[in-house]
Amino acid sequence: MKDNIILTGFMGCGKTSVGIRLSYVLRRTLIDTDKWIEKKQGKTVSEIFAKDGEEAFRRMESECIRELIGTADGQIISTGGGLPVRKENRKLLKELGTVYYLKVTPECVYERLKGDTARPLLQGENPREKIRELLEAREALYTEGADVTIEVSGKSFEEIIAGITEKMEERA
Ligand code: S3P
Repeated sequence: MKDNIILTGFMGCGKTSVGIRLSYVLRRTLIDTDKWIEKKQGKTVSEIFAKDGEEAFRRMESECIRELIGTADGQIISTGGGLPVRKENRKLLKELGTVYYLKVTPECVYERLKGDTARPLLQGENPREKIRELLEAREALYTEGADVTIEVSGKSFEEIIAGITEKMEERA
């Protein structure tokens, strides 16, 4: 297994913000799978969903993780919220490093993402309901795919970072 720190969790759980802060604290570089895919495809995630469809995006996510297994070590990897939904990806993520699942409540996600236009899966009529349904459907998969679960709702970034670094020390 590689020495990467992988952050998983639902949209709006703070993977990117936590990843940025963690990269300062640990002096490790940060890779964001959504950005990696956008750069490689020359399109935004929303454009990929609209033009190629969700399935194509999911294949790109698997391809991204496979490539990172060959290239990334000692890094922090922030993943798209749906990436661990594929069984294959949950297995690949564990090869890539230690998986930290940032667990968030649906209320917290709604408060953070209301008005967001960059997440194609939340653009429908009733985003609050969509968040609740999707999170409920994915919860067990996130847990199954993780080595460590960190509760993040209502916590400050300092508390979340401290939770992650404590777990890292315990596991070292
Ligand atoms: C998705 C989450 C998004 C992005 C895409 C699909 C999902 O990433 O990959 O919109 O299925 O949960 P974030 O979790 O960074 O918002």
